[in-house]
Amino acid sequence: MVEVQHVTKIYKLNKKQMEEQKAKNNMKVAVKNVSVTAHEGEIFGILGPNGAGKTTLLRCVSTLLDPTEGTILVNGHDTVKEGEAVRRSIAFLTNEVKMDAHFSPKYLFRFFGRLYGIPDDVISMRQKELFEYFNITEFEDKRVEELSTGMKQKVSIAVSLVHDPSIVIFDEPTNGLDIITARAVTDYLKLLKERGKLVIISTHIMPEAQKLCDRMAMIIQGSCVFQGTLEEALQGTHAEDLEDAFFELYRKTMEVES
Ligand SMILES: Nc1ncnc2c1ncn2[C@@H]1O[C@H](COP(=O)(O)OP(=O)(O)O)[C@@H](O)[C@H]1O
Ligand SMILES: [Mg+2]
Repeated sequence: MVEVQHVTKIYKLNKKQMEEQKAKNNMKVAVKNVSVTAHEGEIFGILGPNGAGKTTLLRCVSTLLDPTEGTILVNGHDTVKEGEAVRRSIAFLTNEVKMDAHFSPKYLFRFFGRLYGIPDDVISMRQKELFEYFNITEFEDKRVEELSTGMKQKVSIAVSLVHDPSIVIFDEPTNGLDIITARAVTDYLKLLKERGKLVIISTHIMPEAQKLCDRMAMIIQGSCVFQGTLEEALQGTHAEDLEDAFFELYRKTMEVES
């Protein structure tokens, strides 16, 4: 279970960032007093336009950033005070693939598995399953630098799941993927959910969220403006689909702002 309690994240901007973001002062409130709870056995969506604060929030949950205010508990462990315990139960995936180009998928999988202290026979078993699922087996001995972007992304996903985490956090899971790989990824997320894992994704693609997510939080300019199921989002906005519901929430939020 992931419990985000009144989390605020403020970035301090340098001069260059202030100019780029046309900021009036050097404080950027990226996430504003957000509270959300997500449970095992569901796909939970963090939805919102670019710049809403989705990545910032997910980085806080994954212990890559400390919240400025508030608390996050992952299976009861505090992300700031018990980072190590939190990292053992989560995988944080993004589409920025960072893998050493000289090594093969097989080598990398084993290397990271051993870092987690997983016995070799268990690593082999997980490797077989994940490599077969993502069709990596046929190029498992090639160097990463020889692989296409789609292949690299699949390898990076497989390697991130080596420790069989109970919580999988995926920032913009299908962004930049070709249609076949994207489907393989979303199908795998559903499989993880069926196995009782908690999957948290961020996306700005509302039709994708509508198809995938059991519950969702809508983030606009750092604030959570809605949390609930698809049905609740539609009922509350009298919308026919999630995209319309999003624009209705967006319109209301901007009305209050202006
Ligand atoms: N490292 C950083 N330093 C300063 N500002 C940042 C940093 N990362 C993100 N921001 C700003 O915080 C806001 C939220 O960004 P982000 O969390 O990446 O949003 P999203 O993932 O929803 O597109 C944006 O205005 C962005 O420019
Ligand atoms: Mg982002």
